[in-house]
Amino acid sequence: MTKATEVSTQAEGTSTQSADRSTQAGAGAPVRVAVLGAGTVGAAVVRRLQERSDLYAARLGRPLELVGVAVRDLERERDGVDRSLLTDDAESLVDRADVVVEVMGGIEPARSLIERAMRRGAQVVTANKQLLAQQGLELEALAEECGVALEGEAAVMAAIPVMAVVRDSLAGDVISSISGIVNGSTNFILDLVAREGVGFEEAVRRAGELGYLEADPTEDLEGLDAAAKIVLLARAAWGQPVTLDDVRRRGISGLTDSDFHDASGMGGVIKLVASAWRSGSPERPRVEVAVRPVALPREDPLAQARGGANVVIIEAESAGTLRLHGAGAGGDETASAVLGDIVRAARRA
Ligand code: NAP
Ligand code: HSE
Repeated sequence: MTKATEVSTQAEGTSTQSADRSTQAGAGAPVRVAVLGAGTVGAAVVRRLQERSDLYAARLGRPLELVGVAVRDLERERDGVDRSLLTDDAESLVDRADVVVEVMGGIEPARSLIERAMRRGAQVVTANKQLLAQQGLELEALAEECGVALEGEAAVMAAIPVMAVVRDSLAGDVISSISGIVNGSTNFILDLVAREGVGFEEAVRRAGELGYLEADPTEDLEGLDAAAKIVLLARAAWGQPVTLDDVRRRGISGLTDSDFHDASGMGGVIKLVASAWRSGSPERPRVEVAVRPVALPREDPLAQARGGANVVIIEAESAGTLRLHGAGAGGDETASAVLGDIVRAARRA
């Protein structure tokens, strides 16, 4: 574990999967992709789907056909997104797709649209960590029942493929702990305050401008976003039904000038650290999860994450210590993970 000082602060219907599949043509026919949301992440996904259409067709042996993009506001200008693709009728769009990409955020209507997609036999990709943390267990069960995939790599640490590492690459190992900086916006904010003396409110404003913050920024500032991510990592690592209620959580909004001053005086920096660790046997693991601001020595690997970067350290019995580092937020960076999931989902479509 990192040596550190904790900072004290104040559908409907039944499965129509086989019917839907029978409407698809065979090898070489386009895979129809619907994108729900064209904000920071959705717009980046759409731009890349269009720019790289030849590349994806070559990789898949079938083209990806973007059949539409669901938004609330049809009038808003969206850089690089063809207006003719926009619709405010997300349900009809879902019904026309083989792969549904949910990047709208929030619980509803995201959940209902995902359920609808699954019951129609569509593969689903989502970047929605709150939905997966709150209702992912039920959605995974539904995906299994419908014989479709529910892919969510982008929900955890954006561009960093950490879910695949924890769930798949380390499936034969025994993970003992996972700890990291898993929220890009609070890392960006803490970095600006500590290193450049920027005021807290101004740092929050700049994080919003960069597209790092959630639609409700208290999710970031109060550690709810980090809590959702560590819950998803813990489930992937130990197969336990960990929930948000299990997380001992404290955010950064209660930090004071003296907290930053004290940390700096001790040669440290404050980071919002999310951690999960196992006690009990590998066969019957007991999982603990926490999110809290911690004053770390500057040389600590977690203290190295600058700006919107994320870093995670995984300890596993045979692999030893693994460290993954990269962009933890941002449209194009998150789109990288979403697009990877789309390609994987399209292979099943
Ligand atoms: P965003 O900028 O707020 O965009 C949300 C988009 O969804 C907007 O285009 C919005 O339409 C659309 N939308 C919302 N509710 C809708 C509804 N009821 N019907 C139709 N469209 C609706 O959000 P974002 O930053 O792209 O994040 C999207 C998801 O990705 C969230 O789950 C977030 O947690 C996750 N994520 C974000 C990042 C990041 O760095 N931003 C990284 C990883 C994961 P309008 O434009 O018309 O309002
Ligand atoms: N709001 C999130 C963050 C976006 O700051 O990390 C990436 O999940």
